Amino acid sequence: MRILLVAGARPNFMKIKPVHEQLARLEGVEPLLLHTGQHYDRRMSEVFFQELGIPEPDVNLGVGSGSHTRQTAEIMLRFEPVLAELAPDIVVVVGDVNSTLACTLVCAKSGVPVAHVEAGLRSRNWEMPEEVNRVLTDRLAELLFTPSRDGDENLLQEGIPAKQIHFVGNVMVDTLDAFAPVARKSAVLDDLSIKPRAYGLVTLHRPANVDSREGAENITELLLQGSQRLPLVFPIHPRTRGRLEEHGLWPQLEAAESLRLVEPLGYVDFLRLMQKARLAITDSGGIQEETTVLGIPCLTFRAETERPVTISEGTNRLVGTDAATALDAIDDALAAPMPEGRRPELWDGQAAGRIAEILVRR
Ligand code: UD1
Repeated sequence: MRILLVAGARPNFMKIKPVHEQLARLEGVEPLLLHTGQHYDRRMSEVFFQELGIPEPDVNLGVGSGSHTRQTAEIMLRFEPVLAELAPDIVVVVGDVNSTLACTLVCAKSGVPVAHVEAGLRSRNWEMPEEVNRVLTDRLAELLFTPSRDGDENLLQEGIPAKQIHFVGNVMVDTLDAFAPVARKSAVLDDLSIKPRAYGLVTLHRPANVDSREGAENITELLLQGSQRLPLVFPIHPRTRGRLEEHGLWPQLEAAESLRLVEPLGYVDFLRLMQKARLAITDSGGIQEETTVLGIPCLTFRAETERPVTISEGTNRLVGTDAATALDAIDDALAAPMPEGRRPELWDGQAAGRIAEILVRR
């Protein structure tokens, strides 16, 4: 059985890792790995393969950046002949990035079945490119692996037959658990001269938050005022850095004393920073989940989330996209004790094993 696993952007790599590992263990299964090249900088891609021990991709489409349409179309054009040549029995896609949808569309048009890992999540905000990617991928996939029960409910409501839906848990947690001991050995706190539980960890990169001048000014306000409440460490996504520079906001951020602007970090150092943070401020999907497992307060700089269990069971709180409200939320979090981390159902580090079993049974 030949199974082709697709990854393209940073948040895909820690999801594909455990699935590949579990499949590689099985007799009669040949897992192949395809990288679309959506992310290509060493710090956005290669470092994850090295640190997580993911094998070199069998194919790299090398698409690079572009408008969403161009990027999606380019992946489709390059993937079609590769898919025909490799002729896999099934293609596994993960998450909600442009690579996820582009490869799923090609499979649908070529008659190759798709399995979607992290299916069923819904923000109901159609302005998010990821929401479009999620809904269309789920519509076309034959096997839907959900990380939480709300995913099953969303898919059933959309008319997807129950037999296609499998609640398996969260594969990101498999990787988190496997690498937590490795992260404890990271020297990143010393390197940045910061103390455990005495800093906030920030990541912001959603187009809606950073692309416009207004958005960039708003996050600048959040960073400047927030860093007066507690030191902030901000590993900056290239998109965000680009916009802050373009809008002339970079120099004042660099000058702020309690704000550490750093390059994007690898998996292990970033996990260490999460483990020891007093709180996280983010618009990422994955960090809402990881902080829930680690029991770190997470202030999500968005109006809605496709990951509601991180609020109902975890440590996540939606603070909207206004700097002033988010600053109040920082005050609240600092005044409260650290929360207890409670793991949602099946976030037990064993999700990929369940996925591999279902794939092979099929
Ligand atoms: C993509 C995903 C998003 C995910 C994020 C994580 C989509 C629609 N979005 O957004 O869901 O949360 O990845 O990072 O797929 N760039 C580099 N080096 C790289 C990659 C990108 O400098 O290796 C810069 C380029 O200027 C590029 C910009 O970042 O234009 C945006 O990259 P892109 O892949 O279009 O989307 P992300 O914002 O990274």
